[in-house]
Amino acid sequence: MIEIGGNDRLWVLSGRRGSYALHLTDHDELLHLHWGPRIAVADAEALAAEPGPPERGFESPLDGREEFPVEGGPRFVRPALSVRAAGVRGTEWRFQHGVVSDSGFGDELRLRFHDPVHHLGITLHYRMRDGGDVLERWTTLAHTGAAGDDPLELLRADSAAWSLPARDRWRLSHLYGRWGAESRLARTGLTPGEKVIGSRRGHTGHQHLPWIALDGGEATEESGEVHSCALAWSGSWRIAVQRLSDGAVQAVGGVGHDDAGQLLLAPGESFTTPVFAGLWTDGGFGAASRAWHAWQLAQVIPGGPGVDRPVLYNSWEATEFEVSEEQQRSLAHLAAGLGVELFVVDDGWFGARTSDRAGLGDWTPNPDRFPQGLGPLADEVHGLGMRFGIWVEPEMVNPDSDLYRAHPEWVQHHPGRARTEFRNQLVLNLARPDVRDHLWERLDTLLSGAPIDYVKWDFNRSFSDAGWPGDAYPQRMWIEHVRGLYELLGRLRAAHPGVAFESCSGGGGRIDLGILGLTDQVWTSDNTDPLDRLAIQHGFSQLHPARVMAAWVTDSPNAMGNARVSSLRFRFVSAMAGVLGIGGDLTRWSEAERAEARDWVALYKRVRPVVQHGELYRLRPPDGDGLSAVQYVRGEETVVLAWLHAQHYGEPRPPLRLRGLDPGARYEDLATGEVHRGAVLGHRGLRTGLCGDLDAAVFHLRKTDRVG
Ligand code: DGJ
Repeated sequence: MIEIGGNDRLWVLSGRRGSYALHLTDHDELLHLHWGPRIAVADAEALAAEPGPPERGFESPLDGREEFPVEGGPRFVRPALSVRAAGVRGTEWRFQHGVVSDSGFGDELRLRFHDPVHHLGITLHYRMRDGGDVLERWTTLAHTGAAGDDPLELLRADSAAWSLPARDRWRLSHLYGRWGAESRLARTGLTPGEKVIGSRRGHTGHQHLPWIALDGGEATEESGEVHSCALAWSGSWRIAVQRLSDGAVQAVGGVGHDDAGQLLLAPGESFTTPVFAGLWTDGGFGAASRAWHAWQLAQVIPGGPGVDRPVLYNSWEATEFEVSEEQQRSLAHLAAGLGVELFVVDDGWFGARTSDRAGLGDWTPNPDRFPQGLGPLADEVHGLGMRFGIWVEPEMVNPDSDLYRAHPEWVQHHPGRARTEFRNQLVLNLARPDVRDHLWERLDTLLSGAPIDYVKWDFNRSFSDAGWPGDAYPQRMWIEHVRGLYELLGRLRAAHPGVAFESCSGGGGRIDLGILGLTDQVWTSDNTDPLDRLAIQHGFSQLHPARVMAAWVTDSPNAMGNARVSSLRFRFVSAMAGVLGIGGDLTRWSEAERAEARDWVALYKRVRPVVQHGELYRLRPPDGDGLSAVQYVRGEETVVLAWLHAQHYGEPRPPLRLRGLDPGARYEDLATGEVHRGAVLGHRGLRTGLCGDLDAAVFHLRKTDRVG
């Protein structure tokens, strides 16, 4: 809902629990008024009537108060917009108009400004979807000049700036990591100055996810005010959070890692930034996550709510590059016997791809390995009752490939400079239409030529020598590559609506709200160790829902990473917290292990609707070596997954106090038939009975009746 006041120069956007308010001064300054609990227009008008800060020679009257601080004028904060044309920098805008429209799924406010010197049209967009509290913000920049006018160079074009009120203390939460240890949660005090997170790598990166949360140092999982923001972009990005001298905070974020020039707009051209979404809650970090999850399930992720992701098998850890049709058939039969629903052949099925040194770019089945193509294997997999998926890495090429031999000019490179290889591969320049056309033709042919239901789309190295010889403004490639990727994915989805896509980048190197608008799930991490994974999943769940978080059960000792030995029970319960997959070498699992795995898969299918679509409560975080647990609630059902990391001598395990239950009802444990009282589960808690190192359990309860 959007309400208008203050002589049509004040707007209040209200969601389920919160409001966001802004107004325009008589000098066309667009000032932030409020981001917090619901307020009325009259409250916002009272805020707007308050006097600004006293005039002081060294302080800006605008810093920390503006909706979109531009470069120039009386400002010293980091600008969200920096533009240059004919050597002139800075922006001075005049307000043109404000429009509120009903987009069919929520109200959208568009505020239009114009800078006559630069011929720059600036539109700030605000959209509050019905039924939630996530505010989507983005910006459109348009060159409004005539042919022959100088082009506009967008040195920096952030999506939005968020203003938070002055507080005694601020605490910043963000997600950080590396390959094999992505999306771990950091929570530290925000001292005066700036904290910048981002990626300079051309993709979202393993090092940070584009998400932050800010609280006054008192929020818990259950209570307290939390402001949080997330950027929908899969290339290089930056979020800068600045605690100002008066205790207020400004957070700006958008595409690109620097201010050195991102795009050149000719007259008539425009650039629309990605969405930088914001969310306020007073229900603590848990409520913030649940609101983010609900919004993504309803508005961002393809398929919408209610679609279950299947249990998959992926052959990578079992075979690596030693792929053969016969071996894939054997694995498929074993996987089907466990109840797997989707069988995915990973790397090594195409071109000369018998190692990571050759074949990337040649997307036709390797004739020695699949003499009749992929069709026979796909048919057999379908005959076993499973869907069939393949791995691709379309944005990459090995120098030892037919594609590179034919088109060495298609890779990102600087003329006369070395072409740096990582994993023996170079990055194609998807900003080039001919490259996109080629990939479209190859992938469309592939998807049309065999009954393929699923594509795991990988990206295994970062940008390094990101040049584009011959282009008039080569640095636009950092943005245009990502837009090219989105275009290609969108085109493939439209042409093959039955095919689901997974975003992978050496594990979790490309997880963000942008790619999630075009893919059905993401590969969370190459680290499949079930204990390490709990911390990764804990961080991931701060923003993203279980419904997109792929998680595999692999071999013990863990073959790829740390050689940790763990039970099938622990591995399954760890992976059941997301979209369950199996990635071990099933030919080496004993009959008893396969029988046990079959039972776990069957249990997962029973709890899946609750895990994938329920509301998540993080009961105990996986820090230290104690007990951690998550709970999902959906309607009358609840599922608890609990993990005991290490058992200390004589130390009792605490009961788990469940959330989101009806205290006046009884709940039956569907495995044991035991009946619990809701009030007891919520207050005293559920006793897990876990014991010993790396123990784990699943509890599936259903509300039976109300107590007396
Ligand atoms: C990196 C992915 O994260 C792995 O799962 C696997 O697909 C390999 N690439 C294959 O090269």
